[in-house]
Amino acid sequence: MKRILICGSNGLLGQRLAMMLGHETEYEVLNTSYHRSFVLDNHFFDYTQLDVTNKSDVKSLITSFRPDIIINGAAMTNVDACETQRELAWKVNVMGVENLVEVSRRIDCTLFHLSTDYVFDGKNGPYKESDRVNPINYYGKTKLAGENAILAGGISSTIIRTIVVYGTGINVKNNFALWVVNRLRAGEAIRCVEDQIANPTHVSDLSAGILKAIERERTGLYHICGADAVSRYEFAMKVAEVFGLDASLIEGVKSDTFRQTAPRPMMTGFITSKAQSELDFHPMTATEGLETLKRELLHLTLN
Ligand SMILES: NC(=O)c1ccc[n+]([C@@H]2O[C@H](COP(=O)([O-])OP(=O)(O)OC[C@H]3O[C@@H](n4cnc5c(N)ncnc54)[C@H](OP(=O)(O)O)[C@@H]3O)[C@@H](O)[C@H]2O)c1
Repeated sequence: MKRILICGSNGLLGQRLAMMLGHETEYEVLNTSYHRSFVLDNHFFDYTQLDVTNKSDVKSLITSFRPDIIINGAAMTNVDACETQRELAWKVNVMGVENLVEVSRRIDCTLFHLSTDYVFDGKNGPYKESDRVNPINYYGKTKLAGENAILAGGISSTIIRTIVVYGTGINVKNNFALWVVNRLRAGEAIRCVEDQIANPTHVSDLSAGILKAIERERTGLYHICGADAVSRYEFAMKVAEVFGLDASLIEGVKSDTFRQTAPRPMMTGFITSKAQSELDFHPMTATEGLETLKRELLHLTLN
């Protein structure tokens, strides 16, 4: 039986991985996250607190659990907060990764790490894995430095870059799709940018891609995202359509309407042919992903 340690299990991706891998009998999974308690039912899932920035805790937990695989979904993901709280962003997104690299080398396990389209400048997406990186905000710089720490560490690793992840979970940070649903349901007008293009990714597609890479024992770099490249405005219009909400509340605007703390890459998106051929990765369209989200939200309400 393979042992898997998940870091960041309280996050959007971490929760989904915990549920997905927790139901697979061939894996023994230990969930970990920064906060002391797990948002999911602790009677079913094994959980312990782990701050990835605490080098000695990382070392002692991992050398005692001895995972075959570590999946690192822990990160400081608030892009604007990373711009202003640089020391903390570097500590979590780079030094935390360095700690995992060091112990992975020691116990000879494979490190699965999540990265982002924000390693690119967004001038000429969609991007393939071999395209030149050039982050334009501090979050992107920390995530790229995390990737480089893994590559320099000479360990067995799989780096998965993804884009605008959406879905639901317990106490998850607001994501774009949920934000649009909640604002439109409240009858509030929203403004969404028409000039930032990317492929929103349903968290279940991302988790399924990671599981495929684990099952096939694939290492290296993979781009994984939803099937459709859309602007935030187009995506919000699809939300309105799928959820039967008032599309007239959505106004399309240019990015320079907003004064965001961190600059955003304008046109990212990924070419996913490597993941399609090597991982048999076939993601949902934006409409299919939103229909899935709608069912998931209904299920949460009914429970
Ligand atoms: N969401 C996106 O749109 C997106 C896009 C591209 C790439 N990614 C990447 O995908 C990965 C997962 O993202 P996500 O959306 O699931 O993020 P998320 O919901 O913000 O979850 C991140 C988790 O990291 C944990 N964490 C933060 N600092 C930690 C520390 N020092 N030690 C241990 N855990 C810590 C937090 O734990 P607690 O809740 O316990 O505090 C949080 O639950 C990240 O690497 C992110 O950079 C995400």
